[in-house]
Amino acid sequence: MSYHPDTIAPHGGQLVNRIATAEQRDEFLSKADVLPQVQLDERAVSDLEMIAIGGFSPLTGFMNQEDYDRVVTQMRLANGLPWSIPITLSVTEEIASSLTEGNLIRLDNPAGEFIGVLQLTQKYRYDKKREAINVYRTDDINHPGVQVLYNQGSVHLAGDIWLLQRKPHPQFPTYQIDPAESREMFKVNGWKTIVGFQTRNPIHRAHEYIQKCALETVDALFLHPLVGATKDDDIAADVRMRCYEILLEHYYPRDRVTLAINPAAMRYAGPREAIFHALVRKNYGCTHFIVGRDHAGVGNYYGTYDAQHIFDEFDPSELGIVPMMFEHAFYCTRTKQMATTKTSPSKPEERIHLSGTKVREMLRRGESPPPEFSRPEVAAELTRAMRVEDSWYMHI
Ligand code: ADX
Repeated sequence: MSYHPDTIAPHGGQLVNRIATAEQRDEFLSKADVLPQVQLDERAVSDLEMIAIGGFSPLTGFMNQEDYDRVVTQMRLANGLPWSIPITLSVTEEIASSLTEGNLIRLDNPAGEFIGVLQLTQKYRYDKKREAINVYRTDDINHPGVQVLYNQGSVHLAGDIWLLQRKPHPQFPTYQIDPAESREMFKVNGWKTIVGFQTRNPIHRAHEYIQKCALETVDALFLHPLVGATKDDDIAADVRMRCYEILLEHYYPRDRVTLAINPAAMRYAGPREAIFHALVRKNYGCTHFIVGRDHAGVGNYYGTYDAQHIFDEFDPSELGIVPMMFEHAFYCTRTKQMATTKTSPSKPEERIHLSGTKVREMLRRGESPPPEFSRPEVAAELTRAMRVEDSWYMHI
């Protein structure tokens, strides 16, 4: 797919499009009953979708052994291009042995619906411990990313994919903006510099602060909350999206801010995922990407700024998107504004910052997060969701 020369080049130079054409779809559908079948989990469905829409450009399918090995050990694809997270399709030995290299495989979602096709070019075993240590920097099974890794099948299926059809997102159709569309939108708006923001948590004032600090120096802000699979105790995407809508209505300039969903799944790989998150936003057309404290981290597995330091391991030109780093932001009671230690003379006791865990505990007790942490309209929505949303209530 071509892209406008005014926008930033996708990773690897070409925006991938692996959505089947009408003819391809008809052909695949006519073979639906004869193709061998593999059922994808929620994460693999997200990966399939992200590859198909170009969010994972230059990937055109699930990684083969050469790409996988180099990504795990050196954070590069076999051709040398930076890439920090393995994108693989794993199955059990039993399933793998029933499949033949060279064949087309029908890919089903967890509900058993036919959603994609894999041109199986390679099956290979892999070393889970090596992947855990290299990608997650730990092989502790309590790490949510490591847990997924250790629970998955021990054989990878590699090859190009097709998504049968691009369907509107069932929950957030109006916020489904694929890379080709976001690129077009940035061009039409005349935006030359766009900063992307990754998030998996309800928006709080530290998020707002770093977003707006970044926006002061670029043309536009691309708010890109992740709505693919997250760990069970993260807050549900619909609640997070409502918080964003409320905030945009009251506190953001509508003509410079775009809210769109990122259909990818969370890995919680901290530093490695920060690089990956940046490359994905580059594919959406962002020129800059925000990396704050403990980006994509979980528990105490990563140092507060490890996800920033990892950018030093690459030549900026090979990443092709500019990271905008922010220190741990808090509300400063001395200067009565959001700040970091770079901009505030406060003592630790003059800084209000709450962790996601603390906020969840407060909500569980029926308390509202304070206005220094959360905008009151957002706090009200979180409290309301806590009361009425069984699904979310079960999760916290
Ligand atoms: S993440 O897993 O998606 O990184 P979260 O939604 O909490 O989690 O963070 C979104 C972005 O905001 C990340 O870049 C993170 O580093 C940054 N961030 C979150 N809280 C703060 C904070 N208090 N100060 C500075 N940056 C923050």
